[in-house]
Amino acid sequence: MSDPIPFPGDLPPLIRENGPGGDATRALVDLLASVECPGLTARRRRREELTGASHDPIVWAQARGTNVLDVDGNRYVDLTGGFGVALLGHGHPEVVAAVQAQAGTMLHALGDVYPSAQKILLESRLAALVPWAARVILGLSGADAIEAALKTAMLATGRPGVLAFEGSYHGLSYGALAACGYKLSFRAPFAEQLNPAVRFAPYPSAEAVERSLDAARVVLAEGRTGAVLIEPTLGRGGVEPAAEGALAALAALAREHGALLIADEIYTGLGRTGTWFQSEAMGCEPDIVVIGKALGGGLPVSAAILREGVARPWGTSVGEAIHTSTFLGNPLACAAALASLDVLQRQETAAMIRRCAASIERALRASLQAPGLGVRRLTFAGMLVGVTIEGGLRRALAVCRRMLERGYVLLTGGVDGDVLTLTPPACMTDEQIDGFAEALAEVLSEHAAP
Ligand SMILES: Cc1ncc(COP(=O)(O)O)c(C=O)c1O
Repeated sequence: MSDPIPFPGDLPPLIRENGPGGDATRALVDLLASVECPGLTARRRRREELTGASHDPIVWAQARGTNVLDVDGNRYVDLTGGFGVALLGHGHPEVVAAVQAQAGTMLHALGDVYPSAQKILLESRLAALVPWAARVILGLSGADAIEAALKTAMLATGRPGVLAFEGSYHGLSYGALAACGYKLSFRAPFAEQLNPAVRFAPYPSAEAVERSLDAARVVLAEGRTGAVLIEPTLGRGGVEPAAEGALAALAALAREHGALLIADEIYTGLGRTGTWFQSEAMGCEPDIVVIGKALGGGLPVSAAILREGVARPWGTSVGEAIHTSTFLGNPLACAAALASLDVLQRQETAAMIRRCAASIERALRASLQAPGLGVRRLTFAGMLVGVTIEGGLRRALAVCRRMLERGYVLLTGGVDGDVLTLTPPACMTDEQIDGFAEALAEVLSEHAAP
């Protein structure tokens, strides 16, 4: 066994001679391929066919700060921040300490029946995040909280319709999936079990805002829509921000036609885009704000924050809650979320996020705008960054794999798969940022656009 690699959480990549995918990885990935439903992690055969290179996963063993260590001892810098969860860095010490303390006293309570103090304290913290009187429904995943928001809209308006947007991603449980405009292939196999009253409009990007609002007017005028569900910036859909004024216009249209505006801030919220809630910064007053990802600092917890008035139609529980689950308000996750919020709400954290976002923007603009790199567009929304490249999915996958071999964990996004999507921890150092930007420029020039 070779020497362990140093792992304080703020180091550049260190990849062993044979690269990602050593013996320990191979053994686990073989096991995975034999047990997991093949539609999930598996071996990415299609990617292999497309690019001619292995796309086997690496297997994470440790994660701290910006670094991830795989089971073969390779050290990476995680540009995904664990799907945007680790805004504060993986395993933030205050979150870990809160989880450890909670684990020593109580792991589980009785959800909606006999809750833990942590659940109650978290709900009161979350209700105070918005400038209006609020009620909270907790969930375990982003999709969970979207379901709660959609149910609320149904109860509050009596209408089954949802207006959602092309390219948007809201999670894959049935209610959320029905409103996912990300890719038809996600919905198609389940189409017959999905809410038939969902309608899609073009996402109101700067380019499409007029078309989008026109389509929204037509759908809302039909009078069947109870919810307008929108991400302030498309996250998985390719880092596309809504045009200035678009969210506010949609909120006004929704109100005029008796529907609720649900801001899906699961990716964008809690500081990721440089403001606490991006919808608010865009001048929109949503009826429901949905958060997840960074909330638990690594533990699964999400929330739908409802205006008091739209929560009222839920009525008062008469003994058996009509919306709950075994793990509702799990004390471990709530303790983690309370600690995360403590850190996220500090001014130093906001300053750190701003600094890191500015550094990333500076480095990428300096490195990626040279001719010949095949970069079509750079999009910055704080710590949510999109690098749209020429050459489509095939080139994007090849670039991601090569970057992994150089020690950078990166994901493709966008409906066409051609957006390298960066949602790193905000504790990335300048050295790591510059190293990443240089490596990406080199890899893009090695893999020329066709
Ligand atoms: C904007 C948005 N909404 C909802 C979800 C679904 O969250 P989860 O995967 O936790 O169910 C995601 C996940 O990426 C997301 O980005």
